[in-house]
Amino acid sequence: IEKNGNPAVIWLHFQECTGCSESLLRSSHPTISTLILDMISLDYHETLMVGAGHQAEKSLHDSMKANQGKYILVVEGAIPTKQNGIFCKVSGKTAMESLQEAAKGAAAIISIGTCASYGGIQSVAPNPTGAVGVRDIVKDKPIINIPGCPPNPYNFLSTVLYYLTFKKLPELDNLGRPKFAYGRKIHEHCERRPHFDAGRFAKAYGDPTHAQGYCLYKLGCKGPATSANCSVQRFNDVGAWPVSIGHPCIGCTEPDILFKTAIAEKV
Ligand code: SF4
Ligand code: SF4
Ligand code: F3S
Repeated sequence: IEKNGNPAVIWLHFQECTGCSESLLRSSHPTISTLILDMISLDYHETLMVGAGHQAEKSLHDSMKANQGKYILVVEGAIPTKQNGIFCKVSGKTAMESLQEAAKGAAAIISIGTCASYGGIQSVAPNPTGAVGVRDIVKDKPIINIPGCPPNPYNFLSTVLYYLTFKKLPELDNLGRPKFAYGRKIHEHCERRPHFDAGRFAKAYGDPTHAQGYCLYKLGCKGPATSANCSVQRFNDVGAWPVSIGHPCIGCTEPDILFKTAIAEKV
């Protein structure tokens, strides 16, 4: 419940792997403890909360009631829609029902990860559960997408801190992503870019062209069409990101066509 002026946050998990939460747990500036103890009041989060069962449900509903119209709703995971959404249920309610109930009183919704933003891996054809993103279900609330699988936790934290500081949402692109993090293509700042410009491409994993750090475009890199700051922000405070460790970008921050095509190419 809102305390010390810190806004209440309700975090729902649906069809997902919890990688988005796991990624956030490894952030260091600020740390997750600073975030949830000093900056927000995290009233419900199935992975982090101590309570379970009826106690947890009570926390959820107490917070929704006490913070009507004021809480931030964070959603992690896609929402199954086929067969009335029976593929994901918590506390006897489908993900669709829980989302609609929690969205009603939210001031804004953050969809963390590609699952919650656009349906993610679960929605790859034949999409057996009819998985969709939050924006396909909720139409009457401000929704911020922080895609990525998982997204860089600093893109999420920066969005939360922006909202807490300026009391408004950051500027978003046409896919609902904050422009400060998703306003450029990763190709623009990739360290392999000089090889791309010079026409030097890695031909196969493990061969000398790969070992010499040549561009991964011919191994399927989607960097030229992927909007994200991975090549600048990097991950886990160790300076690495997929392309730096030799794997092509699969466009995990992008919706349908790019990401799903990349996944289909792998299977
Ligand atoms: Fe897991 Fe990726 Fe979905 Fe996050 S976006 S919950 S990391 S599958
Ligand atoms: Fe662009 Fe990918 Fe080549 Fe980097 S590795 S320069 S992102 S195509
Ligand atoms: Fe995803 Fe590509 Fe970045 S796969 S993590 S957008 S480098």
